[in-house]
Amino acid sequence: MKILVTGGAGYIGSHTVVELAEAGYEPVIVDNFVNSQESVLAGLRAILGRDVPCYRVDCIDRAALRGVFEKEPGIGAVIHFAAFKAVGESVRKPLAYFENNTGSLLTLLEVMREFGVENLVFSSSCTVYGIPDALPVTELTPTKPASSPYGRTKQMCEDIIHDTAAAPDAHLRGILLRYFNPIGAHASARLGELPLGVPNNLVPFITQTAAGLRDKLTIFGSDYATPDGTNVRDYIHVGDLAQAHIAAVRRLLERTAPEAVETFNVGTGHGNTVLEVVHAFEQASGLKLNYVIGPRRAGDVPAIYADAIKAAQVLGFTTKTSLLDSLASAWQWQLTLADG
Ligand code: UD1
Repeated sequence: MKILVTGGAGYIGSHTVVELAEAGYEPVIVDNFVNSQESVLAGLRAILGRDVPCYRVDCIDRAALRGVFEKEPGIGAVIHFAAFKAVGESVRKPLAYFENNTGSLLTLLEVMREFGVENLVFSSSCTVYGIPDALPVTELTPTKPASSPYGRTKQMCEDIIHDTAAAPDAHLRGILLRYFNPIGAHASARLGELPLGVPNNLVPFITQTAAGLRDKLTIFGSDYATPDGTNVRDYIHVGDLAQAHIAAVRRLLERTAPEAVETFNVGTGHGNTVLEVVHAFEQASGLKLNYVIGPRRAGDVPAIYADAIKAAQVLGFTTKTSLLDSLASAWQWQLTLADG
């Protein structure tokens, strides 16, 4: 069974391609490589022992996307990762985010309908919850105004999928996966996060600081109402997160879901503060990290972590990798990158 993976050369996408192949599916990658690198394909080859078909296509380009569906008959499901994901950049370039993130979904849905492909797994985010009133957030926690255009595109894409699946003649079945904070790398250290330029996200910033590529980590605020004053997030190993997609694809293909579109949180169910992550990294790497406390970052949610019960009960999905092991894998990956 072929599974089309848009953004399959990206961080979460590439780990999902590995898990799909190892679960017996035939992943087919579509990626425009604006925020990913060709070297990922070599990493996939090293892990899987074979090439994964990959099309250099922008999902917004309908003719090119149609071409992929024509060349790859028998696609059973699509996992749609392809999107811009930098919160700060989305504030500076909102139109680019609305055009790219919603535009690529619209094109994809139209092409899927044309080719009779009915199953879609969509990369959503815990950012759709905004600043929640209560923790942990369940899938029934009401969404709040997003703190960035990026977050709003995720909310809009969820709505687009719901409305498309609810149309009278629709055959679309969707699973919306609301990711918490993915971290870490493949155990082989052949795949991991490859941020272009200065990383926005915490863990690549930590590993680059430990590797001497950055002077110091600035912790964005220590005056939040959290156990140590720093933000709380739910950090999930990227390989575990990838597994959630396999469970979602299986569920779509089994056609057992009572609703056309289902939503799942994908997190560990535990929150950790930024300082806890820093100290866990120090333990995992045996290094001291140079860090300072700085001002708050605009748009940061003080605390959020998942209620992971629905994913466990319905998808049979639970995480396996500890925070310490996740950070150790991120560090191994950083060391591999340093070796060139
Ligand atoms: C954000 C989005 C998430 C999105 C992800 C993609 C929200 C609520 N979350 O996650 O939906 O998928 O970006 O990039 O919008 N931190 C520091 N110093 C640093 C970097 C980060 O202290 O140099 C702190 C942040 O303040 C935050 C935590 O580390 O508390 C995690 O930050 P980050 O990795 O950027 O992810 P989020 O902002 O949680």
